[in-house]
Amino acid sequence: MAQPIQKERSFVAIKPDGVQRSLIGEIIKRFERTGLKLVTLKLAMASAENCWTHYNKDEKWYEEKGATVVKNRTAAGLPIEKPAIEYGRDIIGALVKFMTCGPVVIMVWEGNQAVNIVKKLVGGTEPTTSDVGTIRGDLTLDSYELANLGSRAVRNLIHCSDKPEEAEREISIWLKPEDMLSYRLVQEQILYDVNIDGLLE
Ligand code: PPS
Repeated sequence: MAQPIQKERSFVAIKPDGVQRSLIGEIIKRFERTGLKLVTLKLAMASAENCWTHYNKDEKWYEEKGATVVKNRTAAGLPIEKPAIEYGRDIIGALVKFMTCGPVVIMVWEGNQAVNIVKKLVGGTEPTTSDVGTIRGDLTLDSYELANLGSRAVRNLIHCSDKPEEAEREISIWLKPEDMLSYRLVQEQILYDVNIDGLLE
């Protein structure tokens, strides 16, 4: 049987920069107050193996991202030492190094259109262009250009799932089925129930 739509799940990881900048509480607060339900939460060291499985990019992605790196290096007067696709692969290599440098906070949030709600709060991938009001737009300032020139990952505080099916794939990498808690929040009545009765004394 299909899951009720208010049970959509998004996988979220506060990256090592978010933990180091003491933003765990601030970030969780932003998700919590929407009405999304936290179904699991853990502070952990990410393994490189899980990170490589998680960021399973294809050749097209490496090629396109690598081309941006080549453009940035050329503009900065830096030598081009390998094909663009290799620079693209290096992006994920640097990201894995970053994700494994310190603790991360792994969470799953559940609710109506959880993936889109979380994406809206997180903002675009590159902090310098993320909208004001979003986690990345409000709380940090890194850019692809600066990250690529330093051959390091973009420090954008947080990862979130892009699509519901991606969320389920990511959850299966990082968590066990028994990590997901199934419980009811009192506020679900006001958020979802068709009949709101029993409020008045
Ligand atoms: S995109 O732009 O939607 O294709 O990006 P995405 O699929 O989310 O990218 C996966 C992670 O790669 C990082 N990223 C980059 N780092 C450095 N330079 C460039 N140009 C770049 N593009 C993407 C980015 O941090 C993404 O990780 P998450 O965890 O999703 O933020």
